[in-house]
Amino acid sequence: MKRLIFTVMLLLPALWMGAQSQREKVLLNQDWLFAKGHAANPEKDFNYGQALSFSKVAFLQESTLLNADQESRLSIPHTQKFDDSKWEKISLPHDWGMALDYSKEQFKVKGYRKLGGRSPENSVGWYRKRFTPELVKGDRYTLEFEGIFRDAQVWMNGIYLGRGESGYVPLVFDVTECLNYEPDAENVISVRVDATHSELWSYEGAGIYRNVWLHRTAPIHIPQWGTFVSSDVNLQTKEARVKAQVEVSNQSSNVANVIVQNSIIDHQGREINKSGGTLSIKPLETELFEIEMNVSEASLWSLKTPTLYTMHTDILVDGAVVDSYDTSFGIRDIRFDANEGFFLNGERVQIQGVCCHQDHAGVGIAVPDQLNAWRIARLKEYGVNAYRASHNPPTTAVLNACDTLGMLVMDEMRVLSSSDEGLNQMKTVIRRDRNHPSVIIWCLGNEEPAIQGSEKGRMIVERMKAVQRKLDPSRPCTAAMNGSWGEGFTYAVDVQGSNYYKIGNIDAVHKKFPNLPCIFTEEASTVMTRGIYETNAAKGFHQAYDRDHPGWGARAQEWMRYVDARKFVAGAFVWTGFDYGGESVEHYWPGVVSHFGILDYCGFPKDAFWYYKAWWTEEPVLHILPHWNGIGTDSVNVHLYTNMDEVELFMNGKSLGKKQVGKFDVPEWRVKYAPGKLLAKGKKNGKKYIELVETTGKPASLQLVSENGSAIQGDGNDVAIITVKVLDAKGRVVPTAENGIHFDVRNGKILGVGNGHPSSHEPDVFPSGSDVHRNAFGGYAQVLVTSDRSGQPIELTAVSEGLKESKIIVEVTK
Ligand code: GAL
Repeated sequence: MKRLIFTVMLLLPALWMGAQSQREKVLLNQDWLFAKGHAANPEKDFNYGQALSFSKVAFLQESTLLNADQESRLSIPHTQKFDDSKWEKISLPHDWGMALDYSKEQFKVKGYRKLGGRSPENSVGWYRKRFTPELVKGDRYTLEFEGIFRDAQVWMNGIYLGRGESGYVPLVFDVTECLNYEPDAENVISVRVDATHSELWSYEGAGIYRNVWLHRTAPIHIPQWGTFVSSDVNLQTKEARVKAQVEVSNQSSNVANVIVQNSIIDHQGREINKSGGTLSIKPLETELFEIEMNVSEASLWSLKTPTLYTMHTDILVDGAVVDSYDTSFGIRDIRFDANEGFFLNGERVQIQGVCCHQDHAGVGIAVPDQLNAWRIARLKEYGVNAYRASHNPPTTAVLNACDTLGMLVMDEMRVLSSSDEGLNQMKTVIRRDRNHPSVIIWCLGNEEPAIQGSEKGRMIVERMKAVQRKLDPSRPCTAAMNGSWGEGFTYAVDVQGSNYYKIGNIDAVHKKFPNLPCIFTEEASTVMTRGIYETNAAKGFHQAYDRDHPGWGARAQEWMRYVDARKFVAGAFVWTGFDYGGESVEHYWPGVVSHFGILDYCGFPKDAFWYYKAWWTEEPVLHILPHWNGIGTDSVNVHLYTNMDEVELFMNGKSLGKKQVGKFDVPEWRVKYAPGKLLAKGKKNGKKYIELVETTGKPASLQLVSENGSAIQGDGNDVAIITVKVLDAKGRVVPTAENGIHFDVRNGKILGVGNGHPSSHEPDVFPSGSDVHRNAFGGYAQVLVTSDRSGQPIELTAVSEGLKESKIIVEVTK
């Protein structure tokens, strides 16, 4: 890209004030049609593979005048005329994998869903969307898919646009010339998705599972993700130097002389600095404009006060604004130190991280934006300050939530490769994500045992790092290694990323590479089932005492002690923040959901939540485990997860003894079970605390509680996250309740249900009009509901035989 910059201070603000930018962004998530194709039978795959799909599409299908090749005149779903009247009406995000049954004969990596090579009949999905947008001829249009799992081919009005194999990297097509511009003309998007293959070793879903957008711009515009805002800040004076790089693309047929005007807007909407310049851009070229501006008394982006600024950029041609682009950014200083770990704004911050996959109970990978934001908030509740998007680039909604809530991010590539395809995937992700202040490090890959210790591996990572640096010199990179630390990748990365302290010797690495910062990219991997205190392979359960783990894993206390003793280690990411589909080690079948989460698949806390909260937050924590509902008759292990200085446990009023609590300790007692009350008393800094666990009565009623307020938007995209509780007559959650619950919704749609049971083979999603039901597990279930766009309040009712029913009303807003 040629660089032409004439930086001038602009003295004519009136010129651009009040002018209209042509940029528009329309969400296309509603009113799609869906049908399953077939990965091995062209006839069942709407003739894909036996009809011409990439050329002469309409001619061969629709021509009746010519005696065309009859064999090729097959109906295909790319054309406008295709009969899609029998296809299922759906909205995005969508994961058809969640509607598939489980089978022991299926692949573990697909979470035992009937998806993949052994189920070709379920592995291809076709999508069509008919829409009639108001189009402006002469403007440019791009169609953006934030994420499709996977191998997607896309047509617009029968014209082939292209293919994107990655299940995680966005796909963007310029569709300007393929649209139907006549007034009221219908346009049709067709997408074929083939989810046969896996990119990870866990459930990855199937379908168009992230947002879809139609962007409109003037021919002269900032291309998508064409801005990069970075800053240097003096931590003493809080004086920041903000650098904006703005690409401007000229898709017109004349040379464009443009003014590029940048304003920095603070979080209160005040313009605090403004500067611009000019560019001359030849037809069909893109030029880069760079400018630096000062911000005095900058409000730094931090975990507690995640202040955001906006860089507002206007592009002017002949005095008129033709494009406006807002880039959200934060001013903050990050640094990894080889001896002292990670620093944010000059202060050491211990990385208290979790790794997360992207799927959630009930919806799989089709997680609505608001649910993603809720998940990040949930992690913050137990003190998580860093999110590792393992092992793939996250969705934009996750990064937006991390920016606004204050959460550091390790942004990870799925493919570690220096091929053009691999590098292009990485380039797209870095361009998309590099303005998010939450992102502090790029992770170029995870566990590549074949190359991680080799010269080849070192060369590949060096090449990736060079490309990363060109696009973003402001952040370091790492790669997560499960072995060969000190070899191969180690020589190329900026930060040594090591999975599991037990499998290597980090002290030796530190000694040999004294200038290389270190972080544990994975730790723990303990397997726990919420509310279960006995491991049972037949049921697929693991005791929730944070004890069971594969050989490489470690109990929270073990790994935390190890990391805490090493200041040079920046911290660690626990495997994992939430349970996720598939990878139900160590038992596998009937387990279909993993057990690694500190939160279960619905986001309900396992006991470990309080252990981490005790040592990752300053809040007083006193938590008793197990529950006290007939947990055994003999000797029961009672543990406290607590950060008190001293604790005492009582059963039915009788003291079982006092204990002093040191850092990371878990006070425990062997208790002969008798129904009643377990009471813990604690003292911390002279203050007294108590915690009570009681044997509850039988299930008596249901209670529906919204996790995200009393209203959601009525556009069909927002989601109400509803917790279902099974209560006894005194209103206490019955921790053993497994009652079957039926749900009925008015003015809404149930996206999915869940309960956190790792081996439940109950359905998660239901065809419209059918009986939606789920058993409670450990006293809880979850329902995800959206508006049916009627504008009426959503009424959700839960009923269960013998229990008092519950109803909740969720208001809808415009
Ligand atoms: C790691 C791997 C993760 C997950 C984990 C389970 O080795 O990177 O993706 O499989 O083990 O303990």
